[in-house]
Amino acid sequence: MNGDEHRRDLKVVLEGQYKLAYELLEDAVSTGLTPIVIGPPGVGKSLLVRKFAIDTDRPFYEVFFDELLRPAYLIGSFDPAIVLQKGYCQEAFESGHLLQAMEEGGIFLAQELNRAGEFCQNSLLEPLEERSYYVPKIGRLRADEKFAFIATANPAELAGTHQFSEALRDRLRVWIPLIYPDRETELKIIRVNCEPATIAEDLLDKIYDIVKAAREEQDLEMAVSIRAGISIARLAAYHLSQHGELDGKDLINYARSVLLGTSKGRGWISLEKTIDDVIRGALKTHV
Ligand SMILES: Nc1ncnc2c1ncn2[C@@H]1O[C@H](COP(=O)(O)OP(=O)(O)OP(=O)(O)O)[C@@H](O)[C@H]1O
Ligand SMILES: [Mg+2]
Repeated sequence: MNGDEHRRDLKVVLEGQYKLAYELLEDAVSTGLTPIVIGPPGVGKSLLVRKFAIDTDRPFYEVFFDELLRPAYLIGSFDPAIVLQKGYCQEAFESGHLLQAMEEGGIFLAQELNRAGEFCQNSLLEPLEERSYYVPKIGRLRADEKFAFIATANPAELAGTHQFSEALRDRLRVWIPLIYPDRETELKIIRVNCEPATIAEDLLDKIYDIVKAAREEQDLEMAVSIRAGISIARLAAYHLSQHGELDGKDLINYARSVLLGTSKGRGWISLEKTIDDVIRGALKTHV
């Protein structure tokens, strides 16, 4: 995916851990060291690196890695029609997103890098170490000095991810952790993601307390991310705009619907019950 599609105003809360992480990204890129932002789902990794890339005002390319992604998508391939006419020449080679970023001195965002299969991981070793890539029949393409590679990843123990090979891990030089933010920051994040609607403080507090309680509940196996709070808040704000009021039952219904999607319990019935208990427990402190 080409980054131009993302060149719109991003609403990013850049304080606390996000400010520190942003500064570390700047330091790493300025010193030519490859950074990787790691953390659980929905903690703001993708948004932060996208914001950084946009702020540099360089071309940027964003690729979401998974097992099916092939090196040709990153490196490029020869167009058979042109090869037939003119043979293997520069003109017949279409650079992939990584090589484009290298040639243009752009930023390459490798989202979810630890979902990459072995072939893809291997194809990154040369660009990261040598800042160049040898294309058979054409020669070595060297990266512009402004080229930078930035990765994000979920911690490896989460399902659906691979371990990094030793060689790739060694080339990722600056590890930047993000965790769930503190209360104040998370509330700000929820607020900016609901704009232009404004949400009353006491309602926001309730939503945060529900999310926090769900996050801490041992019987819910999946992490409850910042997305959950944003979703509940958006539903509540919409309801308010339509009906002028929101009672406890509405809030519980919205929260249940959102948390059912983000959580994993032992069986559906017991999941619903656990979630209801969590929500009611969290709201008790508000009466
Ligand atoms: N600092 C922030 N400022 C504003 N919004 C944020 C911030 N952090 C997270 N969000 C919001 O939280 C949601 C999740 O963010 P993002 O997609 O960046 O998370 P992620 O860590 O990349 O998740 P995943 O591991 O699932 O890819 C988005 O809706 C985003 O707008
Ligand atoms: Mg992401």
